[in-house]
Amino acid sequence: MATIIGGVATTHVPSIGKAIAEKKYKDPYWRPFFDGFNYVHSWLSREKPDVAVVFYNDHGLNFFLDKLPTFAVGAAAEYRNEDEGWGIPVSQSAPGDPDLSWHLINSLVADEFDVTMCQEMLIDHAVTIPLQLIWPDQAFPVKIVPVEINTVQHPLPSLKRALALGRSIGRAIESYPKNLRVMMIGTGGLSHQLDGKRAGFINKEFDKLCLDKIVDEPEALTRYSIHDWVAESGAQGVEFLNWMAMRGALTGRVREAHRNYHIPISNTAAATAVYTNEKEVGQKAA
Ligand code: DHB
Ligand code: FE
Repeated sequence: MATIIGGVATTHVPSIGKAIAEKKYKDPYWRPFFDGFNYVHSWLSREKPDVAVVFYNDHGLNFFLDKLPTFAVGAAAEYRNEDEGWGIPVSQSAPGDPDLSWHLINSLVADEFDVTMCQEMLIDHAVTIPLQLIWPDQAFPVKIVPVEINTVQHPLPSLKRALALGRSIGRAIESYPKNLRVMMIGTGGLSHQLDGKRAGFINKEFDKLCLDKIVDEPEALTRYSIHDWVAESGAQGVEFLNWMAMRGALTGRVREAHRNYHIPISNTAAATAVYTNEKEVGQKAA
């Protein structure tokens, strides 16, 4: 049966792609951010996942404002990136796992999440930058299932709904008969606002609260409405919905194994975290 090993969550600011291309790992501006990945790399070299389910928001490469699903699941054999206009190199493609994708889609719809299913799907910087950070200087060693959550055009799903979506995916993976080691990835955030009067807004105290609560009490965060979240975390801080879904998919005893928080990367409060997922005592072996 498939096993969920844990999750990695990280910021997806496009300028990171340029810094990677220019190998600025030791540059004083970038070092405190890139150093936050050393733990991720050593954890993955021990855990050796086969597949990553990636919760992210598309910024207009695959879906635009005219047609924007609240939740969409990729079911392709390969996911390509294209030039998004940020001046960063186009990424290599990521391999897919259509069998696992269809299992998740079937389970989600049976569980009353009426997702959009995408047999073709371009992946934007919200997927490619985290993959490049997690697996630097190498071909991506895992297959992916991208799960898009709308954080761009209101109305957005609630934090409660994103957590429930993740939980449904966690249950689906545990019922998957193949012997796969599965990791979750959640991308975006933390607090940031790119436009309007509050452009550049960052809220360190609120980010800390989010990083603390997401480990043991993710429900506590669901009392915030999306509008509360914009007020506390900025218009783009709502990308935390991807972190909530990632957390929801961790079905066992969750431990924060690593946290790096650094202000700012571009306009964003950058955070990287690793959460391990261990079976609860008495939990049925998956
Ligand atoms: C920035 C942050 C984002 O989440 C994004 O998608 C694009 C840009 C930034 O801080 O520059
Ligand atoms: Fe973004």
